[in-house]
Amino acid sequence: MVATPSPQRVSELEREARAALAASADEAALERWRTATLGRSGTLTQLLRSLGTLDATARREVGAAANTLKNALEAALEARREQLRAAALAADVHAGTLDVTLPGRPRRRGALHPVTQTLREILAAFTRMGFDTVEGPEVELDEYNFERLRIPADHPARDMWDTFWLDEGEGAARLLLRTHTSPMQIRYMDAHQPPIRIAVPGRCYRYEATDATHEWMMQQVELLVVDEGVSMADLKGTLQEFARALFGPERRVMMRNSYFPFVEPGVELAVDCFVCDGPPRPDCSVCRGSGWIEIMGAGMVHPEMIARAGYDAQRYTGFAAGMGVERIAMLKYGVDDIRHFYANDLRFLRQF
Ligand code: DAH
Repeated sequence: MVATPSPQRVSELEREARAALAASADEAALERWRTATLGRSGTLTQLLRSLGTLDATARREVGAAANTLKNALEAALEARREQLRAAALAADVHAGTLDVTLPGRPRRRGALHPVTQTLREILAAFTRMGFDTVEGPEVELDEYNFERLRIPADHPARDMWDTFWLDEGEGAARLLLRTHTSPMQIRYMDAHQPPIRIAVPGRCYRYEATDATHEWMMQQVELLVVDEGVSMADLKGTLQEFARALFGPERRVMMRNSYFPFVEPGVELAVDCFVCDGPPRPDCSVCRGSGWIEIMGAGMVHPEMIARAGYDAQRYTGFAAGMGVERIAMLKYGVDDIRHFYANDLRFLRQF
């Protein structure tokens, strides 16, 4: 038999409920209290359900009081639960079962990707020498990636740069993923007048099988300098300064002749082996006993490109260079396979 709901019944219920809650000393007791009071057939729930037997005025009065009580008891339950939890913790600490002097677990800090770190180091070295950093599009026209770099459609040099084509078009207007950052030489010369001194970082793509030294995506930094009186000596001096900034103040550089259609003469630039750091060791895994490590292609900007940019080729000369950032990172950190960089394996990445 449920008592007729009244304001007195509400305050009586409150008194009983609060007393029972204060007497509940663990989680199981709290749950029993919740069922008995706020549960589906709990005392307060039943009182709320029987409001229908009252006339409208009494129902409004008692209903409001009962609802307020419901919210209050729910809050009291949470507060009591918190209180018991704190007491249990304090008891544990007191009993010595919880060692609060144990050092916290350090949070692992993130770091920049090794290729990003290397890229920033490369750009910092050139920034100190007065180069501006500029970027170009990764989706490029055949015109800039090949044609205007003196690599026409049927030129055998195209074999060096097989690419991903983005449309079925023909000739210079065809879109592709750039194979190198060299197209920015053309774009920049078209839009600026000498003196020019730029470093161009960016992603490049090549359609080729991957192995320990080849990836289908890699990053390069291109250099372009055009001014009056720029010579091979400037090329060598600048790149020597760069090699020392990255690989140590003792480094020397060596140029060997090479071929790239957009430079004349073209060279490969090598740095003396910083692993051997002296007479080359025949078993060195980095220079393979040669004493030299190739780090980039370079050369004097072909006079045809100077003229094509609208500059006076009698007055202006320039040098250009291009390097692979992953390759430099591999040398710096002793990484033996380029594929590690983009495998997203934290065991590898956390070492940097
Ligand atoms: N673009 C060439 C490559 O990806 C690298 C290169 C060689 C860039 C010689 C240059 C250069 O600017 O002068 O293989």
